[in-house]
Amino acid sequence: MSIVEYRGFAGVRLEAEVIGSENDPAVLLLHGAGQTRAVWAGVADALEQAGRRVISLDLRGHGGSEWPDDGRYDFEALVEDLRAVLSQMGTRPVVVASTLGGWIASAALERDAALLASGLVLVDSPVHVDPALAQRVGERLREAATLAPGQAQWDVRLFDTLDTSAMADRLDGVAAKIALPTLYVRGAISELVSKEDAAAFVGQLPDGELVEVENSALVVTDDRADALGGYLIDFLERRAPRGSPEFRAGSDARTFRDALGCFATGVTVVTAMCPDGSPIGLTANSFTSVSLDPPMLLVCIANTAGSAPYLRDAERFAVNVLQIGQQPTSNRFAGKGEDRFGVTPWEVGEYGTPVLTGSLSSFECARDAVHDGGDHFILVGRVLKAIFEPRRDPLLYFRGKYRKLHFA
Ligand SMILES: Cc1cc2nc3c(=O)[nH]c(=O)nc-3n(C[C@H](O)[C@H](O)[C@H](O)COP(=O)(O)O)c2cc1C
Repeated sequence: MSIVEYRGFAGVRLEAEVIGSENDPAVLLLHGAGQTRAVWAGVADALEQAGRRVISLDLRGHGGSEWPDDGRYDFEALVEDLRAVLSQMGTRPVVVASTLGGWIASAALERDAALLASGLVLVDSPVHVDPALAQRVGERLREAATLAPGQAQWDVRLFDTLDTSAMADRLDGVAAKIALPTLYVRGAISELVSKEDAAAFVGQLPDGELVEVENSALVVTDDRADALGGYLIDFLERRAPRGSPEFRAGSDARTFRDALGCFATGVTVVTAMCPDGSPIGLTANSFTSVSLDPPMLLVCIANTAGSAPYLRDAERFAVNVLQIGQQPTSNRFAGKGEDRFGVTPWEVGEYGTPVLTGSLSSFECARDAVHDGGDHFILVGRVLKAIFEPRRDPLLYFRGKYRKLHFA
């Protein structure tokens, strides 16, 4: 996570929290009145997991952004803040905005939408500004803030300045001008906006769609963040897809590796004894079971590996499947110039192969066949003996990184 700063309208300092890779397409999250960027925590994580760079902005007078001395919280200042942030971002994010944030985003994207953003998602954002309802919500928020003085994460002066009828005028007719793929998310039991109003609003959008989240009054603050995350990811995948890298025969090997890296595996160390009695071994995740009867398995070994000639010739070898505590072992058996067996506990197995002590499982094999396979060879073994540890978790490997099992 990192913090970035933007300059808003009249130079006001605005703060945002950023997660995810710089190369991933961006999503800008905009909270509502009386909230901060923290309201998006669960959603932000889900989006990052789905391959998005997530920027959660604090509105002026909220959270870590500046609380301007002059107390300028009129709607136009908030709208210009967002336009300023979008033009400083250097990428056109999908803007996901809730309640007041939704009004701000709608007004900000009324002009030049396609230059500033690549999509818009409105969450719980009332279609009409009902001044009486806005007043009630405002009073509720203000009350909550005065009950916890000193802890309020937002400047209560916001409600002194925000003129809801002016805001209603300003928002009149903007829907038809938002020239972006737009998703409208309504809590199915929301008091803020009726089903009919939501449908009519979406009908005015040039490119709008509507989803309803069941059992939800206010989607963003409810425990329906998981459902919201699901709808967002679906919308993003369809309307703002991530560019997928592509490999074709003859193009670079790196992309091919990355494509193969999508297959999650365990990690093994393949070992054998040299004719001089010294052990050799290397880390390999190309392990596959082959046959149950007879019991057979295979690993693919690079022809260029230092261990390759010994493994080709060895009549017996072992495959040691690593457990979660053996990541250092995996590194040691993949690295150059390491004293691989000097610091790794091991013993000679019943069939004369080096067995790494404490592995998740170890298979002692007799060489069954060696097949050429491009720049690797396929070493097929007939299993003579397998031992395994039933309780430990495996060391996993996915997209070039070690992973561990995660139970949701
Ligand atoms: C997770 C992981 C999986 C690997 N899988 C294989 C594999 O299946 N086959 C292979 O030949 N090398 C594989 N390697 C690379 C070798 O472990 C590495 O090149 C090692 O240094 C070879 O050692 P050597 O040259 O002493 O034989 C893998 C490395 C890592 C970190």
